[in-house]
Amino acid sequence: MRKLFAAFVVAALPVLSWAAGGHGVELDKVEIDLADKAALQDGARTFANYCMGCHSAKFQRYERVASDLGIPEEVMLENLVFTDAKIGDHMTIGMTTEDAKRWFGAAPPDLTLVARVRGNDWLYTYLRTFYDDPARPLGANNVVFPNVGMPNVLVGLQGRQYMGCKQVQVVENGKRQFDPLTGTPLTHEACDQLVIEPNSGTLSEAQFDEKIQNLVTFLAYSANPVKLQSQRIGTYVLLYLAFFFVFAYLLKREYWKDVH
Ligand code: HEC
Repeated sequence: MRKLFAAFVVAALPVLSWAAGGHGVELDKVEIDLADKAALQDGARTFANYCMGCHSAKFQRYERVASDLGIPEEVMLENLVFTDAKIGDHMTIGMTTEDAKRWFGAAPPDLTLVARVRGNDWLYTYLRTFYDDPARPLGANNVVFPNVGMPNVLVGLQGRQYMGCKQVQVVENGKRQFDPLTGTPLTHEACDQLVIEPNSGTLSEAQFDEKIQNLVTFLAYSANPVKLQSQRIGTYVLLYLAFFFVFAYLLKREYWKDVH
């Protein structure tokens, strides 16, 4: 039975990974720390400034975000709320689905839960792999979401990215190759590579990666705002069980004393 189950899991793996939306593209890994308040605040700011023109987070309230992320209410209202919404309101937007469909061909989905649907690595890769494609109506395409309807909204930060040629390390049988004499990486030119035009964006590549890492941290928090809390409660539960065990054991000893 167990073997059968294992066989089923193995057989289903390719399907599952496809369902995750990778389409065979290798995703870049991202480490996120939900306890990092500075990262969460920066991510929330990017979200409000660059995403909420089109995407809502309608299962989330401004007030909850402010208190979870340690942002004072006045600061939240002044810097992160651009509509006449009140602090207790849900994070909705003004754009209607019909208009959005007409403008972009597809409506921008609500992003409250997107990190649970797509996963952090997918989001991290998606948001960094928009590139110029004159064949697309809005001039942009994406590596993990081919023919995406979303325009390249972060181009001002990242700079102009296009498909071009660059030197990449030679990989044989899954191993990166080095020159045996000098130890330097062996490279060859590949022409299906994302290349960023130097100095075309306001952030360096490392700074941009960090911005996106923070944004993904915020989206991961938004998809599961009780995660921090549940980890804390989990610790208390384990402590309680450990404590209770002592008394349960003493009680057991007391009951069995006369039996032996
Ligand atoms: C100008 C409008 C616009 C802005 C601004 C915008 N998006 Fe989008 N986004 C879209 C549209 C339209 C789609 C739907 C694309 C499709 O289905 O082809 C989309 C799709 C997405 C998806 C894929 C959702 C899914 O699971 O299919 C994610 C994730 C996403 N956007 C994140 C963001 C983030 C993060 C920002 C801010 C940095 C942002 N978007 C800013 C218009 C926008």
